[in-house]
Amino acid sequence: MANILITGASRGLGVEMAAEALERGHRVIAGVRDIATQGKLAALAEQYGSQLELAKLDVSDEAGLADLAASLKQQGRSLGAIINNAAILEARNTSIEELDMNEVLKSFDINLFGPMRVVKHFLSLVTEPNGAIINISSEAGSISNAYPGDYPYGISKTALNMFTQQLLSAVKKQGIQVLSVHPGWMKTDMGGENAPTNPRQSAKGILDLAEGRIVPQGKFNFVDYTGKEMPI
Ligand SMILES: NC(=O)c1ccc[n+]([C@@H]2O[C@H](COP(=O)([O-])OP(=O)(O)OC[C@H]3O[C@@H](n4cnc5c(N)ncnc54)[C@H](OP(=O)(O)O)[C@@H]3O)[C@@H](O)[C@H]2O)c1
Repeated sequence: MANILITGASRGLGVEMAAEALERGHRVIAGVRDIATQGKLAALAEQYGSQLELAKLDVSDEAGLADLAASLKQQGRSLGAIINNAAILEARNTSIEELDMNEVLKSFDINLFGPMRVVKHFLSLVTEPNGAIINISSEAGSISNAYPGDYPYGISKTALNMFTQQLLSAVKKQGIQVLSVHPGWMKTDMGGENAPTNPRQSAKGILDLAEGRIVPQGKFNFVDYTGKEMPI
C-alpha cells in the first residue's frame, strides 16, 4: 500500500487512476481544482471513505501547492508516488501564423510548469520505498513523430519528457523511478468519443508502472502505458 498523489483527478484519466489505485488498496490524495466535485470522484469518496482524500490543487498556483505540501508534512505524511496528470489541449490544429501566443504560455504553465511546481514542493514527501514520479505525457510530444498543428500541447509535452530525464538523473540514487507515460488515445473529454482506448485500461498500465510491476523498456524513460518504449 502506498500513498499516491494524483493531479487533475476530477475526470478523465485522473479519476480512473484514482479508482484503480483505490481498488488496489492504495491511499489516494486526489488533486482537484474544485473540491465540491461531482460525478465519479464523488462516488469514489463515498465508497472508499478516508482511503480517498480530496485536496484542492491547481497546478498553476504555486502558493497553493506549497501550502498543501506543508500541511501534509506537518501531519507527518509521506508519498509513494506522484502522478502528474493534469493538462490542457489548447489551440488544436492551429497554424503557426494563427497561433495566439497566450495559448502557448497557458499550455506551458499547466502542462510543463505544473508538474515542475508539483515536484518542487512534493518531492521531499516521496520517502516510501520504491517511490515513483509519473509524468503523463503524450505521443504528441515525440520529436520523431512531429505533426503540424498542436504546437502548444506537443512542445509542452516534449519539454515535459526532458524534465522527466533531468529529474530521473537527480533522484535515481534515492531509488525513485521517474517516467513519462503516453496513456494512449483515450475516450475522455480531451480524447473525444472516437478514441479507441478506455481510460481505465490506461490507468491499470500506469499503476503497474508506478508499482514497478511492469519494467519500462527503452533507453529513455518515455514509454506507453504498457511499458513499451516511445520514440523521443
Ligand atoms: N485523452 C487522450 O487521448 C490523451 C492522449 C495522450 C495524452 N493524454 C494526457 O493524459 C492526461 C489526462 O488527459 P485526459 O484525457 O484525462 O484530460 P481531460 O479529460 O481533459 O482532463 C483533464 C484534467 O486536468 C485537470 N486540469 C486542467 N487544468 C488544471 C489545473 N490548472 N490544475 C489542476 N488540474 C487541472 C482537469 O480538471 P478540471 O475538471 O478542474 O478542469 C481534469 O481533471 C493529460 O496529461 C493528457 O495530456 C491524453
